[in-house]
Order: sequence, then C-alpha cells, then structure tokens
Amino acid sequence: MSDPFQNVDARGAEFIKTVGDALETRAAEPKMQEIVDSYLAELTYPDGGLHIEIGAGSGAIARKLAAHAHNGKVVASDMSPGLIAYAKAHKDNPENLHFEVSDGGRLPHADASVENVVMHTVLSHVPDPSVLLTEAARVLKPGGALVVCDADFAKASIGNAFADPLGACAQYFAEHFVTDKFLVGKLRDLIAQSGLDLASFRVATRIITEGQGGMTFVGMGGKMMVEQGLIGQELADALIAEYDRRIENGSLYGFVPFAIAIAHRV
Ligand SMILES: C[S@@+](CC[C@H](N)C(=O)[O-])C[C@H]1O[C@@H](n2cnc3c(N)ncnc32)[C@H](O)[C@@H]1O
Repeated sequence: MSDPFQNVDARGAEFIKTVGDALETRAAEPKMQEIVDSYLAELTYPDGGLHIEIGAGSGAIARKLAAHAHNGKVVASDMSPGLIAYAKAHKDNPENLHFEVSDGGRLPHADASVENVVMHTVLSHVPDPSVLLTEAARVLKPGGALVVCDADFAKASIGNAFADPLGACAQYFAEHFVTDKFLVGKLRDLIAQSGLDLASFRVATRIITEGQGGMTFVGMGGKMMVEQGLIGQELADALIAEYDRRIENGSLYGFVPFAIAIAHRV
C-alpha cells in the first residue's frame, strides 16, 4: 500500500481533516515552532520577493513564512486540493499568503523567480525526491535558498520498552505513512545532485512528553491497522487510551529527530 500522504484526498474528507488537524497540532508544539523559527531566521527576504512552501499541508509553516516575508509574497503550494481548501479556511491567514494546488515536481513558476523554497516534511513522502529538488533549483533565483526540514522516521520512537505496543505504532506509521523513512541520511547527497550548494545541515530533536502530537502515530497507525484487519477496534481504542494514560502519569516519551538542510542556488 502506498503512503497516504502521496494522495491525501483519495482517502476522503475525514482523512483530510485528520491530517490538517494533526499538522496544525504538530506545528503548534513549542519545539516545532523553535525548529521552524530557527531556519526561517536564516533566510533573507528582499522587498517584494516571492517565497514558496512546497507540500504546505494545512498551511501552518507557510503562515510563519509569510510573517517573515514582510511585504513579500508567499505561496503555500500542495498537490492536495483538500488540504489547500483546509489551509485557505484558516482564520489567521495574512494578506501576503496565497495558495495553489500544484505538484512540487512541476511548479507553475518561471525559472529563477523565487527567493526561498521551503520543504517541511514533504520529501520523505515522495517517490522521487530528486524531481522536487531539481524543480526547486530551477525556480530559485541565483543566491536563493532551499530549506529542507524532514523527520528521520527510521530513528523515531514513542516506545518505552522492548515490544512496547506504542513503540509498534510508531514503527507501523514509519512503514505505512512514509515513503522513505531513511530520507534524511540521503539528503545531503540528493541536494548535491540537484546542483544546489549545501550551506548547512543539522539535526534538532522533537521530544513529545505531552499533548496530542504523538497521537498521529497511535491514532492514524491504529486506524490503518484496523482497516487492514490486523487488530480490532477495541485494541485501537486501548492504544489511544494508553497514550492518554502516559500523558497523565508523566511517562509519555516520543523522540523524533528533524534534519534541517539549507542550500543555495549558485
Ligand atoms: C506531512 S505533510 C507536511 C505539510 C506541511 N509542510 C507541514 O509540515 O505542516 C506532507 C504534504 O506534502 C504533500 N505532498 C506530497 N507529495 C507532494 C508533491 N509531489 N507535491 C506537492 N505536495 C506534495 C501532501 O499533500 C501533504 O500535504
């Protein structure tokens, strides 16, 4: 079965809302805000410049980009019409934020027309990341920047012990809701092959000890396991209850490394 993030709309309106809500929850986490703020602060925003987020989902990262861009124009671009509709409906969208349905591999922008391109947890969900990287290189102005921020799902965990059922949920999620869980290890090489010049590469850590951010692994993973006939609804409900129990007793511990690569068009 293919990664549902390759075609969110195919799974229907309820899934679009679940994904949109989960992306908003993740983006609101203080640690995720810190990660996004840190890379957005490293970019330059010339007057009236154009900035694009590819795979913008619910629009949470693009809203932040728009705040940094001042009088520049930001385009939140995603191949999912359902998520673009979700993002457009947000009550806090600023005036300089625009939306477009487009595939990151075929952007409707002219060569050398964009100041910054942001890809936040999108490359790990595409079959061929080099297509999106080459397209980013095409639209970037000389000196323009690409930021890739992606989760190292191969090393992500929410388990507290060997064979912990919540740990199994994170493993199931990485196997069925991610296209390449080893993307981060390949990222520097992929960027070099796209012709962009890597300026920095670092890894920050998203620690989940409270809130519903880690519920993505348990809720979406559990629901798919039920659909596949692997577990019954009662067990899926019990896994969600276990997640909430760990929040209450202070033992919830999720760990997701996030790589941040910044590259420039020469
Ligand atoms: C995990 S979400 C990330 C959303 C947002 N960047 C964030 O971090 O909040 C991945 C997004 O990439 C989009 N996507 C997947 N393949 C794409 C492609 N080839 N071109 C554009 N968007 C794509 C999906 O529709 C989804 O909204």
